[in-house]
Amino acid sequence: MPLPKAELHLHIEGTLEPELAFELAGRNGVPLPYAGTDALREAYRFTDLQSFLNLYYELMAVLRTEQDFADLADAYLARAAAQGVRHAEIFFDPQAHLARGVGMDTVVEGLWRALGRSEEKHGVSTRLIMCFLRDETAESAMRTLRAAQPYLGRITGVGLDSAETGHPPAKFREVYEAATALGLRRVAHAGEEGPPEYITEALDVLGVERVDHGLRCTEDPELVERLVRDRVPLTLCPLSNVRLRTVDALADHPLPAMLDAGLMCTVNSDDPAYFGGYAGDNFDAVRDTLGLSEERLRDLARNSFHAAFLDDDEERRAR
Ligand code: HPA
Ligand code: ZN
Repeated sequence: MPLPKAELHLHIEGTLEPELAFELAGRNGVPLPYAGTDALREAYRFTDLQSFLNLYYELMAVLRTEQDFADLADAYLARAAAQGVRHAEIFFDPQAHLARGVGMDTVVEGLWRALGRSEEKHGVSTRLIMCFLRDETAESAMRTLRAAQPYLGRITGVGLDSAETGHPPAKFREVYEAATALGLRRVAHAGEEGPPEYITEALDVLGVERVDHGLRCTEDPELVERLVRDRVPLTLCPLSNVRLRTVDALADHPLPAMLDAGLMCTVNSDDPAYFGGYAGDNFDAVRDTLGLSEERLRDLARNSFHAAFLDDDEERRAR
């Protein structure tokens, strides 16, 4: 029995496996510039975040209809459930779809077709977190928030993703203020490739309740002290860090030192179709390569439920 856990850092578009990409491409008549699934997998050699994002956005072209988004989410939920995920807080990138002429209604209703049945079908409770693309303008983010307003019953929070360097959190102050006024929860990617100052800014300017990645906090002892004191959850993604070369090798990952420092770490999969593993695979990898004890793994799983946007009753039921 895999350890029950919550997944808190998961981009639904990053769960698009090559087989499903080709199936959807065929269904929708969208040409893909790869001979087949093996050739596509060959392209999964990333040198940094941007090299991954280029392929991630390119492959989204196959997602066109509500049923495509439903099939994508259902496939993820089945895989996650098999690896012990009991609760998933799922990011999606509406701007990447709106830019291709796919409407907010198609994306949210499509995802909801799978999420709405997930507890019953997979035993996985879910939340949706709408991410803004930080390499787009603040005005575009604000327009996206407005476009999502009819769907806020299905969206729990907002996040910030895409190319980090040169796009500090403060650029999105107003849109996070507006999201807060609408009752939305707040997270942001910070300190993946960007400097520790972006983590501080995400906390101080955007008021985030969790930091996605947060890896580079280790470069700033005062920031680590603050994150420990305030028990700010970090959603780490070890296999992602290796594939995007944020760490040289999994054996060098700072997770054990971060746990020793008292940081509230969680382990997640980010974009599992591209980075070589789902949530349970990430747990297995840190156990096998970093030598984390069973007790440490249980701490990570406990942290994941604690850091989730669940109320106390839901948290007890999920664990
Ligand atoms: N980082 C930033 N943006 C992203 C990622 C990531 O790992 N995956 C999908 N969008
Ligand atoms: Zn991410």
